[in-house]
Amino acid sequence: MKWTEEKLAQYNEQGYLFMPGLLSADEVDALNSDVPLLLNGENDGLHRERERGGAVRQVYLAHRSVDAFQELISHPKILHPVRQVLKDDVYIWHSKLNVKDAFEGTVWLWHQDYGYWMWDGVGPRLVSAMVFLDRATLNNGCLMVVSGSHKWGRQEHYADTVTTSYKQWCIDTDTLKEKICEEDIEHITGKPGDVLFFDCNIVHGSGHNMSPLPRKTFIIAYNAISNKPRVVDNPRPDWVVARTFDIV
Ligand code: SIN
Ligand code: MN
Repeated sequence: MKWTEEKLAQYNEQGYLFMPGLLSADEVDALNSDVPLLLNGENDGLHRERERGGAVRQVYLAHRSVDAFQELISHPKILHPVRQVLKDDVYIWHSKLNVKDAFEGTVWLWHQDYGYWMWDGVGPRLVSAMVFLDRATLNNGCLMVVSGSHKWGRQEHYADTVTTSYKQWCIDTDTLKEKICEEDIEHITGKPGDVLFFDCNIVHGSGHNMSPLPRKTFIIAYNAISNKPRVVDNPRPDWVVARTFDIV
């Protein structure tokens, strides 16, 4: 289930590749029916929105506790292209259910995942697969990416602790003004079962959910097995930087 050379070239050029309809309706239903198990559970990687009803914002490591999510990480339509891109075997760096609940889900500021993963002691050889569990629309805060921005290399990031309940590493406004053209911002709208693959250096973010539709996505971050993290001072917890290196 590898990509064609053309698709691979497109991924390398843009820094992302959107694959509509990759998963079947039955596969998405199986994932969605287990989502309540995650929202009602308690674990260190569960974060809530600060305002209003305190809806769940994000739950890490769904794949460790829920079978349907565990099975998804080795789905050939996702895993094979990831291995193809990284030219290596892979393990799970982490996974996360991003909820962005109706009207409550808040922004993700512009960032590169590698903006902070670098401090975890790895090189930029990670790929994420964002699996759409709901529709993603302009109104409910679909992901936005800056096409080709992975070629800029890693940009400096700072920790924003005021915008949401969740500390976000993000790129400062002066750099964004200098680097981002309006025309290069792509809105990744889609439907359940679509999958977006993206490079760890792609600049991305998303807006507030202004819609009655939740915008749940499940993101699986894969790391090349030859890119295991070095020992660093103050390592982040295992739910965000896994220290089990089982090849998927
Ligand atoms: C992320 O960058 O991990 C999340 C972005 C989003 O869910 O919109
Ligand atoms: Mn991100």
